[in-house]
Amino acid sequence: MRTTTVRVPAKINLCLGVGPRRDDGYHPLATVYQAVDLCDEVRATEVEDGAVTVSVQFAGDERREQAPVPTGPDNLAVKAACALRDAFGVEAGAGLAIRKAIPVMGGMAGGSADAAAALVACDALWGTKATRGELEEIAATLGSDVPFLLHGGTALGAGRGEEVSPVLARGRFHWVFAIADRGLSTAEVYARYDEMHAEAPPPAPHVPQALLTALAAGDAAALGNALSNDLQKASLDLRPELSRVLEVAGEADALGALVSGSGPTVMVLAEDPSHSEELAGLLLRSGACADAVQASGPEPGAHLI
Ligand code: C5P
Repeated sequence: MRTTTVRVPAKINLCLGVGPRRDDGYHPLATVYQAVDLCDEVRATEVEDGAVTVSVQFAGDERREQAPVPTGPDNLAVKAACALRDAFGVEAGAGLAIRKAIPVMGGMAGGSADAAAALVACDALWGTKATRGELEEIAATLGSDVPFLLHGGTALGAGRGEEVSPVLARGRFHWVFAIADRGLSTAEVYARYDEMHAEAPPPAPHVPQALLTALAAGDAAALGNALSNDLQKASLDLRPELSRVLEVAGEADALGALVSGSGPTVMVLAEDPSHSEELAGLLLRSGACADAVQASGPEPGAHLI
């Protein structure tokens, strides 16, 4: 039986500027994404009857309870495969097997990553030979982060996040991800953000110049100082216990610490791999998070292995 396997990274937002809610319900973003080597894998096996099915296995730590991942048509990887099949008139189907290491509902775009991986895996499996542009177009219909997870690396995100362009970044950055025992709904965090700005709408978002300068110089200390996330207040309001994670990271001399995307994962920047190991140990022992995982970036986007 023919199979293809794709590895796909998690994403973080080094800055996340969020403007006022648009008429379509989405928010204009000015963000810098980075892909990190905390990766899911999606294996696609060809089936004759045109059906697309999915199974999910967790690679993660048993200390943390994973939210259930849909295993029917609501699964974003299934939607991705079906969208590609319909766009190219493919008659075959695919059985998708997802091995998840990216936290579920953690603010690291795990579901979007699996959708990007399914597009690349099924394109190779079915021989549809979609162009990069065609895949990106389908990706944008699936979710705001899906185009970036095809792209990978370090990139600017505009529009609702789906307009991706590369940004100059030197060197490698070492992170620890403090993972919570349960996920947070992205839509809920944006809704709380709107409530918090009910009186005065936020200004149009922008990417701070200091962040771009730090990336271009490969300066981890400057990057740590330039991290920013407009959604952090809303996430902390929904999960006040996350401020303890930020405190522990600060006391431990992390270069920076910030809620990742809509949370509840907190990303902690280290100087180098040994500092990141030390920070991971401290975070775990503090009991402020359910798990602490080391990863580094930038990483390539969804790719066949
Ligand atoms: O695009 P995606 O489906 O991943 O977005 C999930 C939810 O996050 C949306 O339904 C919306 O509530 C919120 N969102 C937003 N503005 C964005 C991206 C996401 O309001 N730019």
